[in-house]
Amino acid sequence: MEYFLGIDVGTTGCKVVLVNEEGKLVGRGVEEYPLYTPRPNWAEQDPLFWWQGTQKAIEKVLASSGIDPKGVAGVGLTGQMHGSVFLDKDGKVLRPAILWCDQRTALECQQITEIVGFERIMRINCNPVLAGFTAPKIQWVKNNEPEVYRNIDKVLLPKDYIRFCLTGDFATDVSDASGTSLFDVPQRRWSEELINALGYKMSWFPASFESPEVTGHLKPEIVRQFGFRDKVAVVAGGGDNAAGAIGTGIVTEGLVSASLGTSGVVFAFSAEVKIDMKGRVHTFCHAVPGKWHVMGVMLSAGGSLRWFRDVLGLEEKNLASILGVDAYELLSQEAEKALPGAEGLIFLPYLTGERTPHADPYARGVFFGVTLKHRKNELVRAVMEGVTFGMRDSFEIIAEMGIPVREVRAIGGGARSALWRKIQAAVYKVPLSLLLVDEGPAFGAALLAGVGNRAFRSVEEACQRAVKVVERIDPDPEWVKLYENIYGVYRDLYPALRGFYRRVT
Ligand code: XUL
Repeated sequence: MEYFLGIDVGTTGCKVVLVNEEGKLVGRGVEEYPLYTPRPNWAEQDPLFWWQGTQKAIEKVLASSGIDPKGVAGVGLTGQMHGSVFLDKDGKVLRPAILWCDQRTALECQQITEIVGFERIMRINCNPVLAGFTAPKIQWVKNNEPEVYRNIDKVLLPKDYIRFCLTGDFATDVSDASGTSLFDVPQRRWSEELINALGYKMSWFPASFESPEVTGHLKPEIVRQFGFRDKVAVVAGGGDNAAGAIGTGIVTEGLVSASLGTSGVVFAFSAEVKIDMKGRVHTFCHAVPGKWHVMGVMLSAGGSLRWFRDVLGLEEKNLASILGVDAYELLSQEAEKALPGAEGLIFLPYLTGERTPHADPYARGVFFGVTLKHRKNELVRAVMEGVTFGMRDSFEIIAEMGIPVREVRAIGGGARSALWRKIQAAVYKVPLSLLLVDEGPAFGAALLAGVGNRAFRSVEEACQRAVKVVERIDPDPEWVKLYENIYGVYRDLYPALRGFYRRVT
């Protein structure tokens, strides 16, 4: 039996999974590492921690699965997108990586948009320049750290730094490169025009590949360290959302995933390049060769419920630790006691500003319509409903763009709550399905490694073999009607409040 490793270089830690040639998960290992916020709104990580975390997570997965490491035939990489690793000519890291959730680059986004022109950047990269993306980070270093800038020889995305550690090669994949603001998304290659316009060098950026393509092999010292066989191929892999979509089977038209993790992501397959000229959703290359995807990203989805749990759910947290259950389960039970619509209470989930549909770093959370009658049940239910309305905004934009939605696959921590699944089905007005394996991007990366090593004939075949739906939830017609009305009010609240946010920051 042959096995494939999927490595996910995440924001909170590195997760490695092992999948066999039938697409079955046989092991997982996780190693956490810290995130630095040297100033409010800044987010950095030391790439060396990613590398240490990756090695430990590989050790853990090998130990827990008990397989012979010589059975590992291929490796797939995925990770947090947009982060920038700056290397000098000796391959040394020049400064901590600046991450996707770092918000320091508002000025640089403006600068780049002025230099290139909004229309032009939309034509080439298909997305506006956003604070989290890579080019504004390079521009920030240019503006603020000239010494670092002068010594740049390579700019890598997080997973591609780990590739460099594993193989010594400089390479990336088209889905991750799409989020740099420097990639020609329709042509699926680096844009010389954008890179030259900003005064960067083409040689800084690694060769780009389609996700299942082999980019190189593990170095001999890595093979020795883990006891692998001599020639282990490493495939290009994908950004965490694109690789995640392989793990959930979002590889044909009509399939969409709704992920409720810290952030909320609505991810739709697209056979053609489709652009929202208002820039509310992202259009990136997919990890399926020659295809694209459209994605809406909410910044505080599960993050809103976590805030609620930590600030207002102390009782549930304590009880959960006594009972040995998850505090979210208790909160979900509380929400179930409230009526759908939370008796007129509406929550706006903009706790860390927002990306989709309002690219607004100043937006803030709101409880609207609080009365004496409201108890914790209604508050927690309103949070779950408000986050779901935020996800619905992405569905609205995707529909405007003419992308069909036939089935929604619920993933992430939020999919574990039966109540939240029912709310989602009613708010999206589409049947929702639940998957047997929800291991996130690492699972997709392992499947891509299987495709690159010919265990599967194509990405589609890998998904057919590995991705299984276990439950289907149809929208409840009563709830659909009710939520339709409340969603109308939800949508009108942000524009009415927008002007006030800046006055309190
Ligand atoms: C996507 C994005 C996030 C990160 C998180 O555009 O910013 O999903 O990739 O890991």
